[in-house]
Amino acid sequence: MDEKITVSIIKADVGGWPGHALVNPELMSIARKELEKQKGKALIDYYVSNCGDDLELIMTHRKGPDDEDIHRLAWETFEAATERAKELKLYGAGQDLLSDAFSGNIKGMGPGVAELEFTERKAEPIVAFFMDKTEPGAFNFPVYKMFGDPFNTIGLVIDPAATSGFTFEVWDIYEHKRVFMNCPEEMYAMLALIGAKSRYVIKRVFPREGGKLPTDEAVAAVSTEKLFEIAGDYVGKDDPVALVRAQSGLPALGEVLEPFSFPHLVSGWMRGSHNGPIMPVAQCQAKCTRFDGPPRVVALGFQLANGKLVGPVDLFDDPGFDNARAQAKDAADYMRRHGPFEPHRLPLADMEYTTLPKVLDSLKERFTPVE
Ligand code: F6R
Ligand code: MG
Ligand code: MG
Repeated sequence: MDEKITVSIIKADVGGWPGHALVNPELMSIARKELEKQKGKALIDYYVSNCGDDLELIMTHRKGPDDEDIHRLAWETFEAATERAKELKLYGAGQDLLSDAFSGNIKGMGPGVAELEFTERKAEPIVAFFMDKTEPGAFNFPVYKMFGDPFNTIGLVIDPAATSGFTFEVWDIYEHKRVFMNCPEEMYAMLALIGAKSRYVIKRVFPREGGKLPTDEAVAAVSTEKLFEIAGDYVGKDDPVALVRAQSGLPALGEVLEPFSFPHLVSGWMRGSHNGPIMPVAQCQAKCTRFDGPPRVVALGFQLANGKLVGPVDLFDDPGFDNARAQAKDAADYMRRHGPFEPHRLPLADMEYTTLPKVLDSLKERFTPVE
């Protein structure tokens, strides 16, 4: 079948339960009810999930990325859930819906979006990743490892369909610019950018000539929406999502998951103001209660069958990730011992986008010149 399929993940925090810990199951039921109405119409299939306080909508359809109908459906679903969140007085009801009315595309309105359009292969494994209490740059490290690091992905060395490497689309999310970089040959320069993960963010990954797949169909996509950029004030966090295709010339499923065996440090824990380890967890453990965290990542795996989502399989529900979780717990203890000190607390430049400037403002008058 040659027709292209689009997989869209659109997510928003429309109310926490309690505080910023979790999504209330009633909101998930509302989301399922709304999306069910469009199954067989605008949607081929859907799956509703959550990571911490973020409501995650996975939708498959044939309308391509940035489609007005699909984005409106997600927006109206979040609105319906917000209505109930307000009745239940959930925490921060509707917090990620930054606009009063939908205007054609959900981007820039608060929710996060990751979309991939591609020709479905004979067998099409995909992984949906959801992170809570962190920012889009948290995906730089694992996505680089999957598609760029032969110590993670042996396929880059021994699978002729993968040895030509991948092209990374990197966004400067402050300047709203992007650059395409070819790996392996531009790997060092690319790391110079993506190592600075609060500014340079991997948006998409494409196959290159010499592989098995069309070079214009992305194989990975990450949501890059920054809430403070949209709202002009600190309104919550930009907990990101990603979609990754696997196997047959792409990283194997196990190579897609392997980067998460190391709980790397990410920004966004407690008040969006702290660095902490990202813990890979089973979906039932995606509940952020320790110091509103620590940051978490969930991975749901599906096989696509003409757009139908066969799954999910809860991929981090595996003792193989127990050591990563144990390390994350130790790293969380170690970081927490710093209390309000950097590098647990974010560097000042990143704190600009939190509530700190208001505290500093109140001290302005008290500063006097030093002789
Ligand atoms: C929200 C988050 C939380 C809140 C914290 C304070 O995603 O990371 O850590 O920032 O609970 O929330 P407020 O200011 O709403 O009391
Ligand atoms: Mg929240
Ligand atoms: Mg969240």
